[in-house]
Amino acid sequence: MRKLAAYFVGSALLASLGYLFLGIWLFTPRDRERAGAFEDAFVDARDPYRLYMNTSATLPPVGGAIRHYKSLLDNEPVTLRCSSCAVVSSSGFLLGKEAGQEINSHPCTIRMNMAPVEGYQRDVGNRTTLRVMNFFMTGLKPEELPSGSRVMVWGLFRRSVYLERARNLTGRLSAVSTFHGQTVEGEGEAAKLFTKETGQPLGGTKSWLSTGWLTLMIAIDVCQEIHVYGMVTADHCAHNPQKDFPYHYYNNRGKECSIYRGAELNKRGGHRFMTEKAVFARWALRYNISFHYPEWELDKALANLDTPFLKNQGRRPS
Ligand SMILES: *[C@@H]1O[C@H](CO)[C@@H](O)[C@H](O)[C@H]1NC(C)=O
Ligand SMILES: *[C@@H]1O[C@H](CO)[C@@H](O)[C@H](O)[C@H]1NC(C)=O
Ligand SMILES: *[C@@H]1O[C@H](CO)[C@@H](O)[C@H](O)[C@H]1NC(C)=O
Ligand SMILES: *[C@@H]1O[C@H](CO)[C@@H](O)[C@H](O)[C@H]1NC(C)=O
Repeated sequence: MRKLAAYFVGSALLASLGYLFLGIWLFTPRDRERAGAFEDAFVDARDPYRLYMNTSATLPPVGGAIRHYKSLLDNEPVTLRCSSCAVVSSSGFLLGKEAGQEINSHPCTIRMNMAPVEGYQRDVGNRTTLRVMNFFMTGLKPEELPSGSRVMVWGLFRRSVYLERARNLTGRLSAVSTFHGQTVEGEGEAAKLFTKETGQPLGGTKSWLSTGWLTLMIAIDVCQEIHVYGMVTADHCAHNPQKDFPYHYYNNRGKECSIYRGAELNKRGGHRFMTEKAVFARWALRYNISFHYPEWELDKALANLDTPFLKNQGRRPS
């Protein structure tokens, strides 16, 4: 108990410090390494796993995020490793694609937030190895979580109440469930990666990382081979203007392209979904990531950071 208390006091202190530094960091003009460094991404393209975890390379390495997730019970790190993972998005693009069997064929399945499998098995499969969730999940009751969940939660340091609730939830989970929270350093690193990749500080543009971003960072550490299901490319919506589809396969709250377009150009916050997808295409060229439903034909053009958000930033003095 004392260890736990010490952890949370320590965490709270770290959180305040972290926010201070994150704040300083976010509001300092950053180097715009966007265009020049880009060629390097292709030098090592499709080389074996982890060979390109090269911190001195010009593009920022993505690996290592997993060390910033600690068990809220005993501070232990995440030990999960998989030879091949299906990362299943929550997108309505998956509806009717019947990818369930293929998804089930991977030894591990990673899902996001509360995306259900019940009733959608044909399209999304029926097994869940890990859920990556945002801080909203701390408002759940333990019985609302799928039983036996292995959960990794990001964003717990945004408000002290999240951490309090997470602690409460942890103590009430079933024995087979695990609950790892992202440390404030982890949050800072994820934000920094966005800036390094895009040249745009997250806070300066009031952007928020999506759970998809945090999930892919984790998958790069956990999985030797990553297969993503149900993520569209950055330019998918521009190329298919007449064909929108539900944002989530499990409810009717909005259409994906419409939400993506709105969020990408939102001046006051929002996820930069299209920009994130362009960055994922870069990651796919360096790490063992492939995209299905829709299939991504990975090439340089797809990884171009030519998204509405970044074009808009280019025009606006910052
Ligand atoms: C990368 O993934 C492919 C399948 O997509 C697999 O055949 C290959 O062995 C993987 N490479 C490594 C080094 O794991
Ligand atoms: C890492 O990247 C740098 C710069 O791109 C390169 O000079 C160096 O040889 C790389 N190291 C390894 C081990 O690949
Ligand atoms: C998934 O579905 C298959 C085939 O219908 C079944 O054999 C298996 O037990 C299910 N697994 C889970 C975790 O529900
Ligand atoms: C812990 O959560 C339960 C509901 O899941 C709630 O009834 C209780 O008040 C919470 N305790 C604290 C200290 O927040």
